[in-house]
Amino acid sequence: MNGPETLTGIDVGSRAVSVVVAAIEDDQLVIKGCGHAAHDGAKKGIISDLEQVVGAVRAAADEAEAMASLPVEDAVVGIGGTSIQGVRAMASVPVTGRRHTVTEEDERRALRGCGRITIPPDYRVLDIIPCGFALDGQPGMDRAVGMPGNRLDASGFVLYSHKTHADTVEQAVNRAGVRVTRLIFEPLAAGEAVLTRDEKDLGCLLIDIGYGSTEWILLKDRAVVATGSTPVAGRVFTNDLAVVLKTTRAAAEDVKREVGILDGESTTSTALEVPAQGGEGMLVQPASLVGEVLRERARDLFIRIHQVLAMNDQASVPRAGIVLTGGGAKLDGLVEAAQEIFGFRARVGASRELIGLTEPVSGPEWSVACGLVLKEYRRIIDREASPVEAREGFFAKIKSVFGEIFELGGGS
Ligand SMILES: Nc1ncnc2c1ncn2[C@@H]1O[C@H](COP(=O)(O)OP(=O)(O)OP(=O)(O)O)[C@@H](O)[C@H]1O
Ligand SMILES: [Mg+2]
Repeated sequence: MNGPETLTGIDVGSRAVSVVVAAIEDDQLVIKGCGHAAHDGAKKGIISDLEQVVGAVRAAADEAEAMASLPVEDAVVGIGGTSIQGVRAMASVPVTGRRHTVTEEDERRALRGCGRITIPPDYRVLDIIPCGFALDGQPGMDRAVGMPGNRLDASGFVLYSHKTHADTVEQAVNRAGVRVTRLIFEPLAAGEAVLTRDEKDLGCLLIDIGYGSTEWILLKDRAVVATGSTPVAGRVFTNDLAVVLKTTRAAAEDVKREVGILDGESTTSTALEVPAQGGEGMLVQPASLVGEVLRERARDLFIRIHQVLAMNDQASVPRAGIVLTGGGAKLDGLVEAAQEIFGFRARVGASRELIGLTEPVSGPEWSVACGLVLKEYRRIIDREASPVEAREGFFAKIKSVFGEIFELGGGS
């Protein structure tokens, strides 16, 4: 069995499955291996062919197991997609600890209370992210355990997903012989791996651009302020190019990666030769067209997100900048396009501060898988650092604060 010192993260992407295996050695998280397998079993971010995805999970897990020389038996799994919604909620509970001090159980009950919001039928709560506590009306606490008071208020960001979508992602991993311990919203995991403490404190927007969908989270004071998802991602960029250049999607994909969003002037004189759609010879197209098409789509993507922020009066929150991650973030010129739309500094974010076999997972397409193991590692460290008395009660009743919350949503 996977001991507590071996952690596995599985990113079930809509184009590929990425697996990262890590171990806790001398209290440090060390990357031991990784695996990657492309598949064709998702449409618009939703699993459309379960067997293909199961096969990719197994292939990626086999590769990671072989590299790490560790078995992959259970894993924390990433979930994205446009059915995932989030909303901020509050809940209050009386403080029940001895001498009116907050217990771990009080925090847990308060957070669970946040999950009692009305969600659409056929949806399930995925996660409740703690966003701070208040005691007798005094806000500003990251944790309240051990503090004196009568009433504990919790603020939580509740994420929920269409039940079929979440169940299918779990099923794909379970059917590959790996037990799912938790589902984590993908950009939340990616944020764990790529963001600096300053970015999370001052306010930043993390955008995970994949193949079938783009997910984003807005963070401030280390709490989640907003989340969202759109189907505009790498697939759409490539399809646009294929249509405009009248070429195949495979050729458009190559052109996208080679040319990117160059500014109009540098490409006007260059011509590109691409295979014609339907295999009827070659076509010559101006390279400037590529830049134009990709720039327009990039603007469309960022304007969609900016509009959501602006509608909620949050356009000025990401003061510390925009961080682009996921395979789609590798598009040349995307950073500049993001800066233009949001009016803040932008950068491409990949996993930072990892040790071990880090080279193969250093690209932005690995942020989610690395973030999943990092998140799980930090959860274990936090649990070990919590007061012994509280911890005993905690272990006796539940696997983890989020484990139970997750089960809460998962079972209904
Ligand atoms: N060098 C590059 N330039 C531009 N785009 C790239 C580059 N490398 C990869 N991509 C794009 O990245 C996308 C895949 O990203 P990623 O691996 O993060 O997707 P995924 O996790 O499988 O999908 P999703 O997150 O939507 O489920 C593809 O659309 C691909 O075209
Ligand atoms: Mg992804």
